[in-house]
Amino acid sequence: MANKKIVVAITGASGSIYAKILLQKLAQLKKQISEVGVVMSDNAKDVWKFELEDESYHDFDFKFYDKNDFMAPFASGSAKYDTMIIVPCSMGTMGRIASGISNDLTSRAADVILKERRKLILVARDTPLSLIHINNMKAITEAGGIICPAVPSFYNKPKTIYQVAETVVNRVLDLAGLESDSFRWGETKA
Ligand SMILES: Cc1cc2nc3c(=O)[nH]c(=O)nc-3n(C[C@H](O)[C@H](O)[C@H](O)COP(=O)(O)O)c2cc1C
Repeated sequence: MANKKIVVAITGASGSIYAKILLQKLAQLKKQISEVGVVMSDNAKDVWKFELEDESYHDFDFKFYDKNDFMAPFASGSAKYDTMIIVPCSMGTMGRIASGISNDLTSRAADVILKERRKLILVARDTPLSLIHINNMKAITEAGGIICPAVPSFYNKPKTIYQVAETVVNRVLDLAGLESDSFRWGETKA
């Protein structure tokens, strides 16, 4: 049933491939989704171009919102977006969310999702982590958010970069409550 309203925020952390795979999979799962709104930071666009060597975010048939568009529906809780996925999530964006600094659409939408007690998933990416990062992760977790680090798994024996990155995205889809085909330990032979 198409009932989910999802915000995807893409920030300037390394790992644009995670965002690209997520958007591809959301397009395939559209029967379960009624709305997808996408917002990208300037650095997200730069990193995407640098890492993926294309601007294929233009190819997706989702509504994209300007990073400063506070008129976007998900800038208000009344629009009832139920899930927000920040992928990849930079330490800067995570810090702004942890501190309640809603100075752009991504940090405002995350603030809204938390205050409305809905689902916020941060695919956090950096390494190593400072105590500031860890404390920000703790604050967001205590506020109800889910830190899902961009840490791939290898027990399904991925053969390509796509398959490695897909292990992270599949966990995100599970967390978002979307039904998708993915490797399930104990069900499929690796
Ligand atoms: C190629 C590249 C890779 C980056 N990787 C990371 C990263 O993995 N994690 C991170 O927190 N910041 C990373 N940054 C820095 C962020 O882009 C920068 O802190 C930015 O201000 C984040 O803002 P945003 O969250 O609004 O995109 C990277 C920057 C570049 C140019």
